[in-house]
Amino acid sequence: MKALLLGLSLLIASPVTLASTPLQRLSQLVDYVSVDYPGAVDQGEIANPTEYREMLDFAQNIQQLAGQLPANERKKEILEAADRLRDLIEQRADSREISRLSAELRHWLINSYALPATPAEPPDLQLAARLYTDQCVACHGAGGRGDGPLARSMEPAPIDFTDPERYRSRTLYGLYGVITHGVEGTEMRGFPELTDEQRWALAFHVGSLAVDAASEEKARQLLLSGQVDASGFDLKTLTTRTPAEIEARQGADAALVFGWLRRHPESLFRQDGAQSLRLSRELLQQSLAAYRNGDARRAHELAVSAYLDGFEKVEGNLDAIDRELRLKIEDAMTRLRQQIRKGVPAQELQQQIEAADALLQTASGKLGSTTLSAGTAFASALLILLREGLEAILVIAALAAFLIKTDRRDGLRWLGLGVLAALLLGGLTWWASSFLEIGGAGRELTEGLAALFAAAMLFYVGFWLHSKTGAAQWQAFIHGSIQKALSQGALWGLSSLAFIAVYREIFESVLFYQALWLQTDPAGQNAILGGLIVALAALLVLAWLILKYSTRLPLRQFFSVTAWFMFILAVVFAGKGVAALQEAGHLPVDHIAFPRIDLLGIYPTLEGLGLQLLMIVVGVLMLRHGKGGSGQARA
Ligand code: HEC
Repeated sequence: MKALLLGLSLLIASPVTLASTPLQRLSQLVDYVSVDYPGAVDQGEIANPTEYREMLDFAQNIQQLAGQLPANERKKEILEAADRLRDLIEQRADSREISRLSAELRHWLINSYALPATPAEPPDLQLAARLYTDQCVACHGAGGRGDGPLARSMEPAPIDFTDPERYRSRTLYGLYGVITHGVEGTEMRGFPELTDEQRWALAFHVGSLAVDAASEEKARQLLLSGQVDASGFDLKTLTTRTPAEIEARQGADAALVFGWLRRHPESLFRQDGAQSLRLSRELLQQSLAAYRNGDARRAHELAVSAYLDGFEKVEGNLDAIDRELRLKIEDAMTRLRQQIRKGVPAQELQQQIEAADALLQTASGKLGSTTLSAGTAFASALLILLREGLEAILVIAALAAFLIKTDRRDGLRWLGLGVLAALLLGGLTWWASSFLEIGGAGRELTEGLAALFAAAMLFYVGFWLHSKTGAAQWQAFIHGSIQKALSQGALWGLSSLAFIAVYREIFESVLFYQALWLQTDPAGQNAILGGLIVALAALLVLAWLILKYSTRLPLRQFFSVTAWFMFILAVVFAGKGVAALQEAGHLPVDHIAFPRIDLLGIYPTLEGLGLQLLMIVVGVLMLRHGKGGSGQARA
């Protein structure tokens, strides 16, 4: 019956009832065959004629859908496998052969067509249990045995999630697919109104109901004694393999641990360096696959994600170990995104991806030891804060010097307010980021926009200051107009500039520190704190020096120096802002031959350097006119 309806629905494919794509349906059908075939054929004999007809029908649908797949390097094998699957079913072959072949097919589909087969967030299993009680118990029963009050007269009956055979032959990805799209022609409807995370969490929940307390305990023992190493599993294996497949490949003990991981998947989400890099490499392969299928947009998205969700997490650590390599990888990743945008031949993109992959592999080896030595941890912590904090401290010190110099010490409070607010929000970000993964793209967007905003404000302040350097202007400024000049609005501006300059850096450092923290043992964590304190002290000394020496300058010179200083910082921020937006894929990237100087925000792209050049030209033009522009600048 199910087959008939499914077959029919495939033919009249109404978009209302069938939300899934042909690719998703194809992978769902492949799953059904491997799960239901043992019920249809037993030792070469047809055990259930209806089921057997279903299987033949499914196989035919699989062939059809496979034929419609967009061409790619695996398509030929997928078609052959689909043909073979049908042959095997017609010959009533052994069910193990069927399940082996369908496992292979499933993997080709997931990998070569870049089906997203893992949840983005760690599943919230408590939430899943609540959702299950609310929405699933009526049919599947409180214990998941398929014996809910509505189940009695249902045909086909709701699945018993505790049935060990069923459990052994289902992937979490398959369950997630059913929860998303439902099963045509049965009472099992899809739950598209739930979020992706909720559906994944439910898949983990129902997919582990068959794991009883005894086997969970046994798995725990195996893990504790080190007989099975859980780090041998990655998230994708967990969601796209069946327990039976794991048992066949790695043995019964590994299968027990595999079941345990369905209950405790968190560890697979805690990314250590090696995992982040593995993720990067995998996403690059998916990007290539998407590109081959003619989906350049998806390829670009995946390439961006390979950078932001994988590599960027270890950037800070790699920087401490091998800066050269880090730059090379960053460069390779931008280049390949550029190639995707340009629409180069797939062959060319493949070469670039291979090059990037080799670099990532090298990085993986270098970061290989999961824990960093205390010395490296100290050095990394020190460097991160020095690098990130430098600009912020320069901006704050220059603003403070200005206030002191013009006898507006009352403005210092406003400055302090901005810094304090940034520190508070920074603390909050740290706290929130320990359980909220701050997505790579959102992060870069925030950083980029903040940098551009700060650049614009610095540019304005620089110009305003400069307009005061003309003899008449600064005289007038000092004697009288100063009150007007630092109106309420200006004070707020001061505050927000301080805020944005500091928060931007904290926001960026938090993520670096987090990655570092995860890679160190307790001794290393003390070293991190040590590095932080030393760097902080160094920055404060620097601020003090700037204040001390700059305020000694004669007023006019001071204004001029500060103005230039602000301009330069504005140009640096603009370069960084553009680079961040490029990393997030919001701006095109065109490489040009030019040295790259991180500290000065100089990145060799047409877009970044273009904007910086424009600012310099406008700045110089305005400065030459600037002497007359004070009124307008103050307005
Ligand atoms: C109205 C009854 C009903 C409700 C409510 C219901 N299901 Fe089902 N479910 C079924 C039936 C019937 C099947 C068997 C479909 C089939 O024969 O393939 C099923 C099958 C499934 C499967 C496939 C299992 C497998 O091994 O193939 C999953 C997963 C599932 N349900 C999850 C859920 C979740 C999660 C909820 C709650 C959000 C839910 N169901 C709510 C009736 C229901």
